[in-house]
Amino acid sequence: MQIALSVKNLTKKFGDFTAVNNISFEVEDGKFFSILGPSGCGKTTLLRMIAGFHKPTSGIIEIREKNVLEVEPNKRPVNLVFQNLALFPMMNVFENIAFGLRRRGEKGPEVDKKVNVMLERVGLPGYGKKQINQLSGGQKQRIAIARALVLDPTVLLLDEPLGALDAKLREHMKVELKKLQVEVGTTFVYITHDQSEAMVMSDYVAVMNSGHFEQLDTPQNLYSNPASSFVAQFVGNNNKFIVGLKKDESGNFYATTPEGGQFLLSEPFDLQDQGTFEMYVRPEAMIINPSQGNKAINELNADVKAILFDGGNSRLLVVPENSKQELIVALPQNHQFDYIKAKDKIRVGWYPESAVCFKKSEEKIYEEL
Ligand SMILES: Nc1ncnc2c1ncn2[C@@H]1O[C@H](COP(=O)(O)OP(=O)(O)O)[C@@H](O)[C@H]1O
Ligand SMILES: [Mg+2]
Repeated sequence: MQIALSVKNLTKKFGDFTAVNNISFEVEDGKFFSILGPSGCGKTTLLRMIAGFHKPTSGIIEIREKNVLEVEPNKRPVNLVFQNLALFPMMNVFENIAFGLRRRGEKGPEVDKKVNVMLERVGLPGYGKKQINQLSGGQKQRIAIARALVLDPTVLLLDEPLGALDAKLREHMKVELKKLQVEVGTTFVYITHDQSEAMVMSDYVAVMNSGHFEQLDTPQNLYSNPASSFVAQFVGNNNKFIVGLKKDESGNFYATTPEGGQFLLSEPFDLQDQGTFEMYVRPEAMIINPSQGNKAINELNADVKAILFDGGNSRLLVVPENSKQELIVALPQNHQFDYIKAKDKIRVGWYPESAVCFKKSEEKIYEEL
C-alpha cells in the first residue's frame, strides 16, 4: 500500500512555546485518518504545517514520498477545508467550486463537467446557480468539500469542518462525509475535538494532547485498549476510580479505594511502582445486580441517584456506599431493569478484565470541554 502522507519528527515552536512536539506518523493512500484532541492541543498548527501555511521548526513532511517542505502551499498536492469554510459569498455555487480549477488555468466544458460531477458527488446536483446565502449550513459544508475535492488532491485536510453545525446535522453529516470519502477514495486527514466524529468516520485515529500523540490506533483499539489515562478519559465515557495497588499471598492483584473497597485486577502491575493509580471501567461493562457467588466479579453497593433516560443510550447515575463519587452504569435495552427507581439500593459489578489501570498523572490532562 502506498503512503500518501508521512510526517517525521515534526515540531513547531512559537517563541518558547512548543505547539507541536516531535510528531511522527504515516497515512496510507485512501484512508480516513483523524487527529483527535482538546481545543488548544496543536491540531490546527499541525494541519497548517502539512498544508504549507506554517513553516515547521524542525522535521520532515512527505507527500507520496516527496519532501514538500520547500513547496509553496498552492503547489502542494493537498487542499484544506477550513473550520469556517471560507466560501466566496459573491460567487454562486458553481463559481465557488470552479475557482481553483480556473486559477490552475482550466477552462471551458472540462470545468463544467468536473464541477457538475462534484455537485452530484456531494448530493447537490443542479445547485450550481444558487447563491451561497441561499444554502443551509449542511449544504455550505458540502460545497466547501466539493470545492476542495474537485482539485483532486492527494490528501484532503479538514479542520473541524462540522464545528459550526448543530448537533443533529453534525450526526447526519458525519455519516455523509464517511460515505463520500469511501466513494471518492481520497485520503482524508481530519481534525476534531469531538471523539464521536473521529470514532465513527476514521480508519485510524491519533489522540493528541499538549502537542504530542498519546496513541495512534484503530477506533476499536482506542476504545478497548487505551494506552494512557488521557485516552481512557477522552475517548468514550468512562468511570474513574482513584486507587492504590496491592498483592495478596496467592499473587492476586487488587485495586484498593480510600473508602475500603478492594477490587480484583486481571493484569499484574509492577508494585515497585507505588503510589496512586487511576482505574477505569466503562459504563457498559458495569453489571447491575450480578448473580451472587461469582468470585471472579467485583462488586459494590450503590445508591441510585437518577435515571438518565436517553432511549437506547439510557444510564443510571449511582453513588457507591461510603463514597461521593458518581458512577455511570449503562442500562441494557431489554427493559430488564425498568423497575429501578431513584433512591433504590442496587449492587453493581464488573469483571476484572473490564478494568484498566494507569499510574496517576500529575499533569492536569483534560478539562471538561
Ligand atoms: N501563530 C501563533 N502564535 C503563537 N501561538 C500560537 C499560534 N498559533 C497557535 N498558537 C498556540 O498554539 C497552541 C495550539 O493551537 P492550535 O494548533 O490552534 O490548537 P487546536 O487547533 O488543537 O485548538 C495554542 O496554545 C495556541 O494559542
Ligand atoms: Mg484548531
